[in-house]
Amino acid sequence: MSDRALSFGAVASAYERFRPGYPAEFAAAVLAYAGRPVRTALEIGAGTGKATRLFASRGIAVTATEPDGAMLAELCKHVPPDVETEQAALEDLRPHRQYGLVYAAAALHWTDPDRRWPRIAALLEPGGVFASFGGPVLVADPVVAQAIQGARASFLVTDEIPSPDGTPPGDDLQWPGTELLRSGLFADVRQVALPQRLTVRADQYVGLLSTVSAYLELPIPLREQAFQRIRQVLPETVDLITDTTLHLARRC
Ligand SMILES: C[S@@+](CC[C@H](N)C(=O)[O-])C[C@H]1O[C@@H](n2cnc3c(N)ncnc32)[C@H](O)[C@@H]1O
Repeated sequence: MSDRALSFGAVASAYERFRPGYPAEFAAAVLAYAGRPVRTALEIGAGTGKATRLFASRGIAVTATEPDGAMLAELCKHVPPDVETEQAALEDLRPHRQYGLVYAAAALHWTDPDRRWPRIAALLEPGGVFASFGGPVLVADPVVAQAIQGARASFLVTDEIPSPDGTPPGDDLQWPGTELLRSGLFADVRQVALPQRLTVRADQYVGLLSTVSAYLELPIPLREQAFQRIRQVLPETVDLITDTTLHLARRC
């Protein structure tokens, strides 16, 4: 696993504090797609448990898996005590049992593409559902976005993560829907857009940036300088577009 994939634990409490959570509609969309009762779920890359809580609060027995011990320790503070946890990357999981739902929130792109889909399929009951959701956090006002880009330019060209399989942004079906289709292990692949907007204070926006892997890769003094420069160009509050794309599929 790359250092960048495991960079979040160093800022686990900031991650929990500043990253937006997921609304209840996300779980509703996944469970409506399942079309049958879902009793058990395995979460890949659960982080501090933002998506764990979504499904656990629907009475589903969730097993939250996460390779980073510091993230998992933070998760344990925020999820119901009956949530099972395992410190493991997707690549470490053995299919001792199968689940009605396997899901990942903002985590799948960190997993090893080699054997990703056979691994996930082996963790699902026949007909079980796979769900992945995530998306970039964008600044809504183009003038503010441009000012941030300028302030960041000498430290980082971009803080975005490119499509893992190179799917152009304009294509109708985006990753991981593309890979799910190609794998031949899943049927009924769907992509659903879940629009979301959020307004945060300038300091909260910088707090959010402090949990983004591209910044976490910078040496600490440079990171601090970048945040100072960005903070100087921010208005009092920042409007964010946190649209999320949900991909769904059923194990054949
Ligand atoms: C951006 S965070 C998302 C955390 C959480 N799911 C959320 O939505 O807030 C990505 C998470 O993926 C985890 N991760 C990195 N590599 C992984 C792998 N190979 N298998 C599973 N999880 C991985 C990281 O440790 C991190 O907690």
